[in-house]
This record gives sequence, C-alpha cells and structure tokens, in this order.
Amino acid sequence: MGGKLLPAAFAGSPPLSQVATSAAHGEDSPYFAGWKAYDENPYDAVANPDGVIQMGLAENQVSFDLLEGYLREHPEAAGWGAGATSFRDNALFQDYHGLKSFRTAMASFMEKVRGGKARFDPDRIVLTAGATAANELLTFILADPGDALLIPTPYYPGFDRDLRWRTGVNIVPVHCDSANGFQVTAAALQAAYDEAAAAGVRVRGVLITNPSNPLGTTVKRRALEDILDFVARNNIHLISDEIYSGSVFAAPDLVSVAELVESRARRGDGEGIAGRVHIVYSLSKDLGLPGFRVGVVYSYNDAVVTTARRMSSFTLVSSQTQKTLAAMLSDEAFAESYIRTNRDRLRERHDHVVAGLARAGVPCLRGNAGLFVWMDMRRLLGDGEATVAGELRLWDKMLHEVKLNISPGSSCHCSEPGWFRVCFANMSLATLDLALARISRFMDRWNKATSQQEQHY
Ligand SMILES: Cc1ncc(COP(=O)(O)O)c(C=O)c1O
Repeated sequence: MGGKLLPAAFAGSPPLSQVATSAAHGEDSPYFAGWKAYDENPYDAVANPDGVIQMGLAENQVSFDLLEGYLREHPEAAGWGAGATSFRDNALFQDYHGLKSFRTAMASFMEKVRGGKARFDPDRIVLTAGATAANELLTFILADPGDALLIPTPYYPGFDRDLRWRTGVNIVPVHCDSANGFQVTAAALQAAYDEAAAAGVRVRGVLITNPSNPLGTTVKRRALEDILDFVARNNIHLISDEIYSGSVFAAPDLVSVAELVESRARRGDGEGIAGRVHIVYSLSKDLGLPGFRVGVVYSYNDAVVTTARRMSSFTLVSSQTQKTLAAMLSDEAFAESYIRTNRDRLRERHDHVVAGLARAGVPCLRGNAGLFVWMDMRRLLGDGEATVAGELRLWDKMLHEVKLNISPGSSCHCSEPGWFRVCFANMSLATLDLALARISRFMDRWNKATSQQEQHY
C-alpha cells in the first residue's frame, strides 16, 4: 500500500454492523474537533510559539513529580518486583477478579480521598480499563437497548459515546441552569422522566458526576438526597461517577453517595437504597494516570458486582500495572501526602486561573473541584447571538484567532449558550500564563470594538 491509509470502506464490500456505522459515537462534536485542531498545530514554546494551546484536555500533570519521586525511591514497585519468578507472575497471571492486594489498596485510597467518611469493601471492587469502560459496563448491566439514563446537564461529552454507542441505550438530559449554580433539582429530574415516558422510553437510571465535569463543583447534600429519593420512588438505579473525588480542593467538601448510603442504613431508612447505587472511579484524574487505564465499578448490589466482574474480562487492567499501583497506594504515608499536596496544587492553579480571567473581565462559576473552570462568556454573545450557533462562532474564534482549544458548553449539552470549559492542569504554569495573556488581549480587542460600536449609536 506504499504507506497509504486504507480507504474508509471498500466499494462493494459487505456491509458492517449497526454499531460500526452508527453516529452515536459523537466524534463529530466540537469537543473532539478542537482536539484535532490542536493536533494539527500544537503550541510549543520554542518550535511553535503561535500554535494552539490545549485547554480542552482534563489531564492532571501538576503532581507527576510526586509519583516519579515515589518510583525513584521504590524501584522494585515499577520493575518486575522481587524474586526470580516475578516476570512470569506478571506475564502469565491474569485473573478477572483482579489482584486482592490491588483491590485492597484501591478501597483504602477511595476511603482516604473521602476523608474516611465512607467504607469500601475490596470484594465489591471490580477493576476495569478506566472509568470509560466502567460506565459502559454498568450501562450494559442496568439497561437494555432503547432504554434511557437521565443525566444532568452540562455533562462530560464522552458520555455520548460511552453510554450510548455500543449499548444502544439513550441519554435523556436533565436540564440544569445557572440560576442555582447548575444543581440538580427534583423538578428537573421529574421533567426529564416525564419527557422520556411521553416518548415511550423506559428510564432505568440516573447518572450523576460528582464532582462535576465540566462544572468543577460538588453536588450539594440536599440535591444528592433528592436524587436518592427520586431513584427510590421510581424504582430505578443511580450511577455516581466520582472520578474527581480526590480533586476537591476547597469547601464545601465532597459528599459521596457512599456516605449517604451508609448514613441511611444506620438510620434504618436505607431499605431499597443500597441495591440501586453504583459508584464509578478511576485513577486517570486524581493520580493523573489516564494512560494506565485503571477504573473501578463499586456496587452495593451483589448481582451487579458478579455480572460486572464477569464482564470485566473484556476490559482488564494488566497485572504489572496492578502490582505497581498496589505498592504505591498501600503506602499509607505516601498516599496521604500525595492527596494533600495534589489538592493544594490544584487549588493554587484554580485560583490563579480564576484571578487571571477576572482581571481580563471574564467571570467563572464558583468552583471547588476538578481540573477545569466553567467560564462565563455569555456577555460576549451579542444581541440575537445567545444561541448555540453564536456560541460555536465564538468557540471558532477562540480556536483559530486566539489559538486556544476550550470546550463549548453546547458540546456538554449545556442549555445556556456562552459557557466554556477551560482546563488548567495539563500544562506548565508558563503556558497557562500565555493562555491567560491571549484571553486578556482578546478581551481588550472585544472591549474596544464594543465601545466603538456604542459610540456609533
Ligand atoms: C466524568 C468522567 N468520567 C469518565 C471519564 C473517563 O475516564 P478514564 O480515563 O478513566 O476512562 C472522564 C474523563 O475525562 C470523565 O471526566
């Protein structure tokens, strides 16, 4: 083929499956288009100083030195381990239950990031190749093709792929808005449920992300209680994706659904609650290891745990990765100090970005978690431009003129045009400052153009 790529499909070749040809993957969204634009012209301080800065990737690089330091001090954790048979142990052993030592270390880490306010049983931990696989696997278990999950907006754009594409399950948005900081309400949940019922679609569960991607906020205890009451009332499931649970850096503290399950059980009114609650976790964000592909399904429902474990055969974590991370996370002193330092660094980054944007005249939703801020550019959408089309025109300008890849709210199904997600932990401080300077110059130009227009009238 002389190095040429194969064509997408051969003319006259037999048809492919419905999954293969379905558009539910969502790869044409601006969220992924922005990544492509970055790939074609990536910023580099020396080689390409006018290139696009990637602010659309929720990656945590601020604490990498801590992980590297641990591995330098404990080279046995990153190697094959001690003993002559350890290479063989890694190469040959692969049980879909996952290593007990790693599940125990994960349970303990999940407790630590929640300040010891919830307990996790290692025997309920099912390992998967990242939260992507964990979310899909749970969807396969809880819903049939044509059923729906309710998801509060704005939500992580990857859900369109992870929950719908191969499962044939639908997403029905639960519309939240800025009036209450995008918190989920019982009324919004009911409206989405009624909309699905009117369309003849069976709702099998609610999926929340706590802390939220893209908002960078935690779900309030009251809202979480309402969500639990709602799923109990309608006899449906609750998936809580808590992938950012260790990245809460300011008050209010995270209230994990695990805490509520335990407190309701203690009060004696947990009847029928635990069996419908399932938690998703991963080391991609809090530990900054998306390349390692380590995720977790944690369910209080025995049948879900058993089925998830069987299904995890399709999406296992390599033995070597499990052994390295088991050593790292079971080192109590290291794990505690990592969590503390990582939080402090994320808070510093967050406050730095928010202050820089404020100086440029751009407000953000008040956030306390995650690797991003939810930037409010609604006032930049002119008269008659407060639409998705207007937002996408501004996004295009940010990408091609300001040379920043940020994610438009519409790619997260936000119902208010003009919000953008801006990631701050996947680059050096110098690059972040350059990005802030670019926004500041853009705002100066915008302010000048706006005041000239006003003088015209
Ligand atoms: C809310 C949420 N869930 C799941 C994922 C996927 O994570 P993983 O890399 O563990 O598959 C992400 C990644 O951005 C996310 O933000």
